[in-house]
Order: sequence, then structure tokens, then C-alpha cells
Amino acid sequence: MNIVVVGPGSIGTLWAYKLKQAGHKVSIQSRVDGDTLSLTINDQRPVTLPNNHLRQIADADLILVTLKAWQVSSALNQIRSHIAPEAMILLLHNGMGTAESVSQVFSSNPILLGTTTHGAFQPQKHHSKHVGLGQTLIGAHNHQALQCGFIADVLNHALPECIWQNNIQSALWNKLATNCAINPLTALHNIRNGALSEMQYQETLDQIVLEVSQVMACEGFAVAQQALRQQVDSVIEKTAENYSSMQQDIFYQRPTEIDFISGYLLNCARKHSIETPANQKLYTAIKQIENIGSCS
Ligand SMILES: NC(=O)c1ccc[n+]([C@@H]2O[C@H](COP(=O)([O-])OP(=O)(O)OC[C@H]3O[C@@H](n4cnc5c(N)ncnc54)[C@H](OP(=O)(O)O)[C@@H]3O)[C@@H](O)[C@H]2O)c1
Repeated sequence: MNIVVVGPGSIGTLWAYKLKQAGHKVSIQSRVDGDTLSLTINDQRPVTLPNNHLRQIADADLILVTLKAWQVSSALNQIRSHIAPEAMILLLHNGMGTAESVSQVFSSNPILLGTTTHGAFQPQKHHSKHVGLGQTLIGAHNHQALQCGFIADVLNHALPECIWQNNIQSALWNKLATNCAINPLTALHNIRNGALSEMQYQETLDQIVLEVSQVMACEGFAVAQQALRQQVDSVIEKTAENYSSMQQDIFYQRPTEIDFISGYLLNCARKHSIETPANQKLYTAIKQIENIGSCS
């Protein structure tokens, strides 16, 4: 397949490398100048891929978007006129809310959504360390994408495990619940995920999860509060040694994905007139830190 990976960061580099290894014609859309980019993962031999080639975008069967949620709209707008109307666009990021605006702009394209638990970071630009084997779930956002289940097989061949979901919204809401609980708290307290198992955080976690489960029920994704809480505890335990992406963003004074995590939840809660004081408090606290950072 002709595949363009937009955003060769930690996750994008991993996917670009693996898709190239699997035999696809892969190119990169980045913010870096240069006709080619040399990418590598772990200690493997680098691959050199075309960079920022408009022709490759026009020929793309699949545009794999591995940006931070807040980067998605502007990055896709920059290349909008070059994307063929039948090209599949797969948004693979944490948080929710980008698909609505993307599908308005790209009204004829099949839009797919995904979530991944692979773990990667970049010790240096375009060099990803794949530190956690995970699972990628993808599914259709619009009706044009309903026939694109084969993309899960393509991705699964390159970087297992990738599974097609008939109801990707449900998977995304479950991931959002975990992100609402873990990301802002670890960022505010500057702690690893595992520290959230301490007694002092249990009441707040209970409250966050209760609010998320109420919003999920109104959105048509009813889940027992206790089951959601167990899911959060399980992620805290399995990723105890990790820092969350929001902790890292706050620590390094970068913009966070809070608007697409807690912010998305708050918007949905407002729609259903549900009170969400615990999530609101965390959202406000993170936005305050972000605003201080952007003023300094
Ligand atoms: N890393 C993980 O382990 C992991 C795991 C699960 C989910 N996720 C999610 O996956 C998404 C991507 O995360 P990440 O860790 O890979 O982030 P990242 O390392 O920051 O990657 C984003 C990449 O996009 C590039 N970019 C920004 N604006 C662009 C534009 N207009 N055009 C082209 N490229 C552009 C950035 O370049 P610059 O460096 O120039 O800004 C960077 O290389 C996030 O939603 C994250 O929460 C990550």
C-alpha cells in the first residue's frame, strides 16, 4: 500500500518503520525540512523514507495520523488539497473530539479511529525506542470507512496486535476514562502512574470514574462504575513505573492533550447537564499550568 505517516514522533516513527519493513511504500509528512528522513527504532538499521512529498500524499491509500490530538486539524489542513477523496485517514492519538472536525473537512474520505497501548519514546529525533508491546484497536468513524476492516490486517501484519472494532467509540470511551483518571493527576502531582495506588488518591479516583461512567451512560456506552474503576486500577498497576504523557508534557512545558481528554468529557457532560466537579477541577488546574507556561 501507499502509506503516508503524518507526524514522525515516538509512535509515528514506530509505525513508519514497521510498515516499511512489512513491504509498504511509506513516506513521511513532518515539520522537518529535507527530501528524505532517516528513521530507526531500538537498535535496528535506519530506513530512509521520502519526506514531505506532495505526490506521495496524492497517491496515498492510507494517511496514518500519529500527531498529538491538538496538532491534528492544523496539520491535515496544511495538506488538505493534496489528499485524494478516497484516501483512508486513520487518526491514532489519545483523547477524543478530532474526528468530528476532520470528517467535516474530509467529507468524502473514509475516516478511521484508533487507540494503541504500544509504548514508545524518542531519545533523539526520529529514533524511537519501543518500550512496551501493546495492542492497537481501530474502527470506522464514518460510513465510508465501514468497508475498511482489512486495514486492521495490514497493520496487524506490520505491528501486532491490531484488531478491528465494530464499535470503536466504545473502546475510545474506555481509553478516555483511563486517561481522565491517570493523566491529569500524575501531571499535577509529578508522579509515576504507580503512585496513584496510594491511599490519598483513592477518593479522587472514585469521583473521577463515577463522573465518567455517568457521562458514558448518557452517551450510550453504559459501563458499571466498579468495572471502570477496576480497569483504571489495572492500568495503574501494569504501568506503575511509567510516567503518563501528560506528566511528561507538563514537566517539559509542552501543551498537553487535556482539551481532548478531560475537556472532551466536560463538553459531553454539559450536553447532558451532568455535574463533573472532580474532572472540572483537574481540567482547570492543568489549563492554568499550561497558560502560565505559554506566558513565560
Ligand atoms: N508515545 C507513546 O508511547 C504513546 C502511546 C499511546 C498513545 N500515544 C498517543 O499517540 C499520539 C502521538 O504521541 P507521540 O508520543 O508519538 O507524540 P510525539 O512524539 O510528540 O509525535 C508527534 C510528532 O508530530 C510532529 N508534528 C507536529 N506537528 C506536525 C505537523 N503539522 N505536520 C507534521 N508533523 C507534525 C511532531 O514534530 P515536532 O517534534 O517537530 O513537534 C512530532 O514528531 C498522542 O496522542 C499520544 O498521546 C502515544
